[in-house]
Amino acid sequence: MSGRIPRQFIDDLLVRVDIVDLVDTHVPLKKAGNNFVARCPFHNEKTPSFSVNRTRQMYHCFGCGASGNAISFLMDYSHLGFVEAVEDLAAFVGVDVPREEAGDFVSADKEDASRLYSVLEAVQLFYAEQLRSEEGQVAVTYLKERGVSGEIARDFGLGYAPKSWDALVSRFDRQSLVDAGMLVVREDGKVYDRFRGRLMFPIRDKRSRVIGFGGRVLDDSLPKYLNSPETSVFSKGKELYGLCELLQKKTKPGRILIVEGYMDVIALAQYGVDNAVAALGTATSKAQLDLLFRFAPELVLCFDGDNAGRQAAWKAAEASLPCLRDGRQVKIMLLPQGQDPDSLIRAEGLSGFQARVNDADVLSDYFFDYLAGESDLATIEGRSQLMALAKPHLEKIPAGFFRDMMWRRLSEITAARIMDVPQKKATLKPSQAKKTSLQRPSLVRRVLALLIQYPNLQQVVSRQGLSLDRFEFAGRDLLVDVLQTIALEKPENAAMLLEVYRGSTNEKTVTVLAGMVLDVPDGGEEAEFSGALMQLLRQARQEQLSGLLAKESREGLGFEEKQLLRTLLKERL
Ligand code: UTP
Ligand code: MN
Repeated sequence: MSGRIPRQFIDDLLVRVDIVDLVDTHVPLKKAGNNFVARCPFHNEKTPSFSVNRTRQMYHCFGCGASGNAISFLMDYSHLGFVEAVEDLAAFVGVDVPREEAGDFVSADKEDASRLYSVLEAVQLFYAEQLRSEEGQVAVTYLKERGVSGEIARDFGLGYAPKSWDALVSRFDRQSLVDAGMLVVREDGKVYDRFRGRLMFPIRDKRSRVIGFGGRVLDDSLPKYLNSPETSVFSKGKELYGLCELLQKKTKPGRILIVEGYMDVIALAQYGVDNAVAALGTATSKAQLDLLFRFAPELVLCFDGDNAGRQAAWKAAEASLPCLRDGRQVKIMLLPQGQDPDSLIRAEGLSGFQARVNDADVLSDYFFDYLAGESDLATIEGRSQLMALAKPHLEKIPAGFFRDMMWRRLSEITAARIMDVPQKKATLKPSQAKKTSLQRPSLVRRVLALLIQYPNLQQVVSRQGLSLDRFEFAGRDLLVDVLQTIALEKPENAAMLLEVYRGSTNEKTVTVLAGMVLDVPDGGEEAEFSGALMQLLRQARQEQLSGLLAKESREGLGFEEKQLLRTLLKERL
């Protein structure tokens, strides 16, 4: 196992790299005032609204809202995970990534992995070549019969594994083949090729490295498909067949279809549907869904209409619940009995298939239909059963609009009052809550954005010895949190502060605020920040005061409330 990357290293890396240079190597930038601009690589546009700021070490697109630091850029632009992005960034700067506590194991691990990648790559080329051999003609004929063109076969790197028991053993390093799962090791220690006489589908990771294979028989023998076993470079629950090929198209798909089989992905691609992937013969996992959501906001689960397919669809829908932050969507598409995407698109053509995709059920409908199917909603018992069934699922959805709507829907269906629907700001009276959210967002956001973009401003607050805890306003907790974080981590710029928030619930908000346009004259940040903060606090105090005074004349105040009123009246801001 590789160790953690030390936080200090990441900070140093962000200091050493200049995001302008980094972005410029991928997307040529032009200077425009204080910023550098280009056409946004994350959405299609004619005029440049993507801008990179050297002081903040951040990029921001005014068109699609994408923003982040150098690490975020590599994660999004090159479709990398966090660790991969840090590795690439380190390579860009020309340094090695150190690991905590792992010592020598790390480099041994790395060497081992690259040995497996290279043997698998060589095997893939060998299998592809075999399609041109005399023996390989059975596979070519089979592909032709199934309507797969040479072009698609090439795109997906399809191949043929000869019938021989030692086609691989006789050509490649034996230990590497064993470690890569390409051989079967008998009890007596003898080895032979795992795949023989099969049509071969290479499985690649999102960085285009071959990590395993699926192999289909060319007749009716069994098992129909054989797959590589799990190895140190191949874990079925994390990879998706077709994802690499999809990403190579380099355009951002609006949605991704998840289908069941290798041949479904291939047949769809053949008809021009190039946004389908398949889980690798296992249940669709949360890790796979999370991975896909990095590339598209909408996932369509496409399953057979038979019993097994229905169950698989439900399992996948269930697994998707914890991934459903606002802005992400899952749809479910159940196919007619006996059909799979491959047979369906052949029968109904591209437009027929697309129409079905567009018509897929939204998760909310599907979810309640599925669960209600098991309860009789005409009875109280049935409704309370639905409640009991649904509740644990809804609790898995991250807080947000979608979750709230799902709870509301459940309460409508069961016509019940749900006492424990998570209420936001339950302590505020409705009239108060409304006022707060209408009046202040721009001010709080401005204060937060200034602070995030110029972390040094934290000193303004600490110098004045201001404690924000006694004020009540929307966004206070985040403001307090950002102030504490800056005091603790001392980030030099927005990019470094963002790194601290990566992976936390506030990451998105902080990123957006880091990209907010502030229009502050150079050197005017401090005055601007103090002014906005004081105005915010004054408003907060004013509202608290009026609330307390109103309550006093209505029903009188408790002891603590009186104390608070006194403090507030005395305070000068
Ligand atoms: P299906 O049996 O639905 O096959 O298996 P398919 O994709 O329609 O294949 P064709 O059209 O007959 O060629 C769906 C997936 O389940 C896994 C494979 O990943 C397959 O693509 N599977 C199936 C196996 O791993 N082993 C098997 O024996 C069968
Ligand atoms: Mn099929």
